[in-house]
Amino acid sequence: MAASRLAVVLALTACTGGDSAEPSDFASTSNAGGASSSASVDGHVDNPFAGATMYVNAQWSAQVEETASDYEDSDPDLADDMRAVASEPTGVWMDRISAIDGNADGPGLRYHLDAALDQQDGDQPITVTVVVYDLPGRDCFALASNGELPATDEGLERYETEYIDALTAIFASPEYEDLRIVTVLEPDSLPNLVTNSSDANCQAADPYYRAGVAYALDAFASLPNVYTYIDAAHSGWLGWDSNSGPSVALFASVVESTEAGFDAVDGFVTNTANYTPTEETYLADASLQVGGQEIRSGSFYEWNYDFDEADWTADLYARAVAAGFPSTIGMVIDTSRNGWGGDDRPTEVTDASSVDAYVAANKIDARTHRGAWCNQSGAGLGLRPQALPSGYPDSHLDAYLWVKPPGESDGSSEEIDNDEGKSYDLMCSPSYSTERLGGNTTGALADAPLSGKWFASQFAELVANAYPAVGEENPPAREDDSVELGSAEDSAAGDSSSDADDAWGEDDAVVAGESGECSASLEVTNSWQGGFQANVVVTAVGDLAGWEVSFDLPTGVEIDGLWNGDSSGTSGAVTVGDVGWNGVLAAGETGEFGFTGTGDAPDGVDVECVGN
Ligand code: BGC
Repeated sequence: MAASRLAVVLALTACTGGDSAEPSDFASTSNAGGASSSASVDGHVDNPFAGATMYVNAQWSAQVEETASDYEDSDPDLADDMRAVASEPTGVWMDRISAIDGNADGPGLRYHLDAALDQQDGDQPITVTVVVYDLPGRDCFALASNGELPATDEGLERYETEYIDALTAIFASPEYEDLRIVTVLEPDSLPNLVTNSSDANCQAADPYYRAGVAYALDAFASLPNVYTYIDAAHSGWLGWDSNSGPSVALFASVVESTEAGFDAVDGFVTNTANYTPTEETYLADASLQVGGQEIRSGSFYEWNYDFDEADWTADLYARAVAAGFPSTIGMVIDTSRNGWGGDDRPTEVTDASSVDAYVAANKIDARTHRGAWCNQSGAGLGLRPQALPSGYPDSHLDAYLWVKPPGESDGSSEEIDNDEGKSYDLMCSPSYSTERLGGNTTGALADAPLSGKWFASQFAELVANAYPAVGEENPPAREDDSVELGSAEDSAAGDSSSDADDAWGEDDAVVAGESGECSASLEVTNSWQGGFQANVVVTAVGDLAGWEVSFDLPTGVEIDGLWNGDSSGTSGAVTVGDVGWNGVLAAGETGEFGFTGTGDAPDGVDVECVGN
């Protein structure tokens, strides 16, 4: 989401085509070769995903289909599940200059934008997610995605003229003015400057990352149909205060170095190509004490308060707005591979006497270490791409996306020659262990191809371990709460999604009462034809060791999904107890659970709370 932009008329000179050394099997023919054009006046909206569909990349779908055919005989159910996700939207990676015109890996940008126009249904807007990923000295702290451009003045010059200008020229073509082109700006780049500033490659890359990102921001800011989300790594990378503070300061300083300023930014994207869960459902409170220690102090979280992407996006939003970003910014989480379903996924809170045992028993993220990033074994597809996800009002989520196309490798498990500048990273070797991972092995899958290439056996694992499982759905989206851009009140008024918080805000403050005393209230947070979602907040009036709430549901209403609570019935008189971690509350603290129901959303339900 972003503040308003003035409409501009942009003149662009023709730019060079792809790298001629690159085979161009898929080179696009329509309108190829740059453009001289103008971007029309069009409303740049707050949340580009609201009310829009998302572009489905037929090239990705075809790879899924091929893998499904390969599994048809050995595992027909898995093949069916693969086909069931084949039409999910995924990001289009412009991972080198030749990708713009098309190369051996796939068709070029115009092919995708033309296909998006074909997919557009009447007047309904469609978004296309384009990953901008070619900075000089790319992937400075790792090797698997090193790029084609060196961290030199000449590399920056080529980045600006042959890459960013070429993308901008295509985005600005009049035929695409009605597409909502969402750019994911340079994964891992600025985060690396914060946490890996002692690394020589990152030091060399530093000025070029700042200049390149600023150049791209200004170029795209001139186009009302382009939306820019800056990559902000993930909670297991930037979540510590000592990293999040400097990261947001760096994001702000790069943005302030642009002509367009904060208006150039629509938001941030987290977890790009990573595996960090959206929510650690059974580890909801990082400060929970086990054996006299906070659970965040254990070896998996290493004192980080941000356990998951819901935590990190909320943290980032608050910090970014405090640093000067408009309150209309929104967050996107890459949920392509952060599902962690399968048999080992916990289903309830399990007690244990030490922090490490407690975390191990209850965490969803099954990695050996949160720094492990390459082709993680045991991972599954995460929440499906969706606009306006519900449930995390503080995170100001614009959407869940599959930015990394599931099934594309993160890096080769052995050295493979290539002409893309990619190197071999030991983090992709299954047998490598390192102190950087707390002495653990990498958790990487064997037999992996080069980063970006199709890795069928990884795709099979991701589908088998999907969470929600294939055939199940995300919780329903929240109502469109995006604001109209352009009015002076935008920033002052803020995003109306924060109103959801107000329901449980200061008004609910209580004076500490007798232990065991509690109150509860139920709010319908979303409703649709034939169903609704509700949230129940329990407020501890005195200290609580647990709670139980009861309410009567009207005839015709039935609970069909409930989380963070233990329920005794699904219709009529219903009683719901805590699930351990949300039961122990000090006076004034709140716990909550939620549910979805079928039937008409109930109005003014009385809720009784009994504590102990
Ligand atoms: C690779 C890119 C690829 C992208 C999407 C990155 O790790 O370096 O070449 O396009 O993943 O799969």
